[in-house]
Amino acid sequence: MMNEKRKILIVDDENDVVDTINTILNEEGFETHVSTNGKDALRKVQELSPELVLLDCYLPEMMGIEVLREIRKLSEEIAVVMMTGHGEEQLVVALMKAGASDYLKKPLGKFTLLSAVKDVLRKKDINREIIQSERLLLLGELFPFVAHEIRNPLHAIGGALTIIQKRIIADPLVEQSITVINEEIKRLTSFVKECLEFSNPSDLSKFSSTDVNDVITSSVDLMMPAFHDAAKQIDLSLSLQENLPRLQTNFNEIKQVVLNIIKNAVEAIDDKGSLAIVTSYDPRLTGHFLTITFSDTGKGIRKEIAKKIFDPFFTTKTASGGTGLGLSVCRKIICENHRGTLTIDSEENRGTTVTIRLPVDPSAAMEGGSGV
Ligand SMILES: Nc1ncnc2c1ncn2[C@@H]1O[C@H](COP(=O)(O)OP(=O)(O)OP(=O)(O)O)[C@@H](O)[C@H]1O
Ligand SMILES: [Mg+2]
Repeated sequence: MMNEKRKILIVDDENDVVDTINTILNEEGFETHVSTNGKDALRKVQELSPELVLLDCYLPEMMGIEVLREIRKLSEEIAVVMMTGHGEEQLVVALMKAGASDYLKKPLGKFTLLSAVKDVLRKKDINREIIQSERLLLLGELFPFVAHEIRNPLHAIGGALTIIQKRIIADPLVEQSITVINEEIKRLTSFVKECLEFSNPSDLSKFSSTDVNDVITSSVDLMMPAFHDAAKQIDLSLSLQENLPRLQTNFNEIKQVVLNIIKNAVEAIDDKGSLAIVTSYDPRLTGHFLTITFSDTGKGIRKEIAKKIFDPFFTTKTASGGTGLGLSVCRKIICENHRGTLTIDSEENRGTTVTIRLPVDPSAAMEGGSGV
């Protein structure tokens, strides 16, 4: 995941309370923002999408519980820890009912504050992982059946369309419509294929000795037309280390990953930009891991969505027909099927770097090192 600071919004009208919390959280490496009233807090929640709001119960104009209810209307995901003052304990049940994640009694001690904040954030992470794995599980169980039901009619439609194409008298509008139908059939067919590959467990028998550089060059060849077209000019630079150790991998799966990552890079670059792909293996620096990095100069990933990009079906490309499965497929292939790691670092408007690390069997490394 990205190495970004976790964002917390502190809402309290007492300056010294805010200062203390701010200092404690900053020291601990959190990114903090401050609000002194409910209205401003709600505006900041929308603007900044913090992961956690520390919300005082007693605020001028708008009470904490009202602010909490409004936050809940905006998002179920943001954690809200309420800070109650002396004599406000009876509020706790109402606060929890209104969707508070936890509550803290003032005055706050450093230890209590930090452990509550860390606890709530940890619960959030666990929830996210549960949601991801539930979706994956559902997809894995359900999709083979759904795929069957979609594939057959698609096949029939395609066949019928070929017959129509042969019989029809030339009419530009009809021809145009046939092209549209054909394209949509192709899109659905590849979506079904993608989902099936995703839901099917990796076939171990397909693992064989692979030169990762071959995967890169064959994927780049396939993607070449996308680098230079009427709308885009993308400079590609390849720096592929010679004599990489051969790895036991599923060539097609790794190729699918490489294609997906290159496709994302191409899609992130609006008109001009560059993509650098580097492969390297240096046991002194990276242990028994071979590294592949893809650095693009595209639009980057907004911090607010960084956490979601690996979620199955999460996409910012609804208009252009993204399925949002690309990165979750990549992660499954690299992390689960090949026991590697996949990390993404990105800066908005600057670019994105995807790093893949694949484990090298030390004995295989010797073999590859000799250039076989
Ligand atoms: N290199 C990148 N630069 C900027 N944003 C990226 C990059 N890679 C991924 N993203 C963001 O992550 C989201 C999820 O990516 P993912 O590949 O899973 O799905 P997608 O590209 O939207 O759709 P699909 O890959 O299924 O066509 C993208 O919609 C995009 O917002
Ligand atoms: Mg993609």
